[in-house]
Amino acid sequence: MRFKDQVAIITGAAKGIGRSIALALVKEGAKVVLVDVDGDVLRSLQEEIEKRGGQALSVACDISTPSDVERMVEQGLKAFGRIDLLVNNAGIIRRGTIETVSEEDWDRVIAVNLKGTFNCCKAVVGPMKRQRSGKIVNVSSIAGKLGDITSAPGYGSSKAGTDALMKTLARQLAPSGIRVNAVAPHAIETEMSAQWPDERKREVVTGIPLGRLGRPEDVAAAVLFLASDDASFITGEILDVNGGAFMD
Ligand SMILES: NC(=O)c1ccc[n+]([C@@H]2O[C@H](COP(=O)([O-])OP(=O)(O)OC[C@H]3O[C@@H](n4cnc5c(N)ncnc54)[C@H](O)[C@@H]3O)[C@@H](O)[C@H]2O)c1
Repeated sequence: MRFKDQVAIITGAAKGIGRSIALALVKEGAKVVLVDVDGDVLRSLQEEIEKRGGQALSVACDISTPSDVERMVEQGLKAFGRIDLLVNNAGIIRRGTIETVSEEDWDRVIAVNLKGTFNCCKAVVGPMKRQRSGKIVNVSSIAGKLGDITSAPGYGSSKAGTDALMKTLARQLAPSGIRVNAVAPHAIETEMSAQWPDERKREVVTGIPLGRLGRPEDVAAAVLFLASDDASFITGEILDVNGGAFMD
């Protein structure tokens, strides 16, 4: 069990990739703070984890609001006493082009994906510094490296922003024993990609050397690797989880 008795916060844990990361961490012995705007689904995930003998706390929280995030971290500390790992997974996407995207959509995507990640990092750094250890893993996207033709411009911009934030924090926090990394998935089978027309899915798979879409479990495995002691000499890294679609 690579995470026995470690405490992990996972944002966007109610479904998709976040849910898969939370379940994988519980399987490896972690106590989890489940965070999402969707409090009802979170509570049922908490019950599911507790039925399996795991420990979980669900906190309804909008990561774009600093006071919500601070309250969430306080609740996590009160319940479990420490924070070993933050997984910044919560994210939203909007479709469109530079001509069609509204200012409101641009602002919301940046507020959740970029500022939300910043808010969560800022809130855990104090406790992690006091422990003189900690790990942060962001769920970024291939769109942060390449841009993307179907999502509105704010999405790739927000992910490139979190990549730069991640590298800055990796440098600033290394002396305090805190490692900061990211994974960059390509198309993963979740509700986000379920909205695509079949033709788009076929097109995407054609561009993936391994010949399939990714699964939430593929992303979870990469996140757990970066958060584990197996990656103890890795910080400031963006690990591609893309079936070979982009190699850099
Ligand atoms: N699915 C993909 O193909 C794909 C590819 C690359 C990167 N990603 C990234 O992976 C992450 C998870 O994506 P997913 O496909 O599982 O998405 P999803 O929509 O299935 O799940 C995202 C979760 O985040 C929560 N959330 C949204 N806004 C929030 C907020 N303000 N505060 C707290 N929680 C909030 C949602 O309620 C939802 O439960 C995202 O950051 C996404 O950008 C996904």
